[in-house]
Amino acid sequence: MSQSLTGAGKVAGVVGAPVRHSLSPLIHNAWIAGAGLDAAYVPFSPPATGFKALVEGFRGGAVCGLNVTLPFKEEALALADAPSAAAQAAGAANLLLFREDGRILADNTDGTGLLAAFAQQAPGFDPAAAPVVILGAGGAARGAAAAFLAAGVGEVRILNRTLARAEAIAVSLGDRVSPLALHQAEQAFTGAGAVINATSAGLSGDGGLDVPLAATPADCVVMDMVYKPLRTPFLAQAETEGRRTVDGLAMLIGQAVPSFTAFFGVSPPSGVDVRALALKTLGLSERI
Ligand code: ATR
Repeated sequence: MSQSLTGAGKVAGVVGAPVRHSLSPLIHNAWIAGAGLDAAYVPFSPPATGFKALVEGFRGGAVCGLNVTLPFKEEALALADAPSAAAQAAGAANLLLFREDGRILADNTDGTGLLAAFAQQAPGFDPAAAPVVILGAGGAARGAAAAFLAAGVGEVRILNRTLARAEAIAVSLGDRVSPLALHQAEQAFTGAGAVINATSAGLSGDGGLDVPLAATPADCVVMDMVYKPLRTPFLAQAETEGRRTVDGLAMLIGQAVPSFTAFFGVSPPSGVDVRALALKTLGLSERI
């Protein structure tokens, strides 16, 4: 938050349930302070049935915009008057902008964040150069597939425990998407330029994914959307195999950048190390 918020200050926020652990207020308020803006970024956590009322209440611009997180991303897209192509392709919105004329614009910056994370942590990686493998077939996987398709990849291989869900993504995103079952991992990894974990496996302490990353080419980049821990067992396995890795915190910060610009009309200030702040808040240290 700005040190000197006035009555003319701009307000944006994040809405989710739960929202307590969101790092977005920390990131955006650090940028607001660094840029010296008259603004604040606040968390909102409506009851499960209260998302629509909250969004409708902001129609007209009482707040300039909201980031949206679980479980409201699909509902956010449905409530918007003007969804971007990225939000439509992902089937979800993580950003709502409230215009003074009453319109609600929806966008999805997760794909931008994903590609920014690759650009930052795997310099020289070309998203269009080779097939990309995505593990999982939930909303996060769909968004990642849409982002790589928009970036010009020739083939996205969706690998999921439940094949029918991977097939559903292929039906909606088109014939550059190949659905595969988890036991076909070795086949999927052959010739891959990147492998991205977009499953929730391991999040609740249930063992995590056991996939043969050794079957990927030596220059394949391995990414995990999970950022706590930063060096997930999946990324540790990739490093053991000698693969370059990209972490979920880089994606989280990457999706916040275009959101901040959309809210406040300026880019985040370059001198604020929000990654270090986030790591400190999470009680994590850099990967070693
Ligand atoms: P989101 O929308 O946040 O991406 P989701 O819809 O709950 O989350 O999807 C979670 C993904 O993780 C699914 O692809 C799920 O596989 P299924 O479709 O077969 O359920 C995957 N997943 C969760 N736990 C898993 C595990 N232990 N092994 C493999 N995949 C797992």
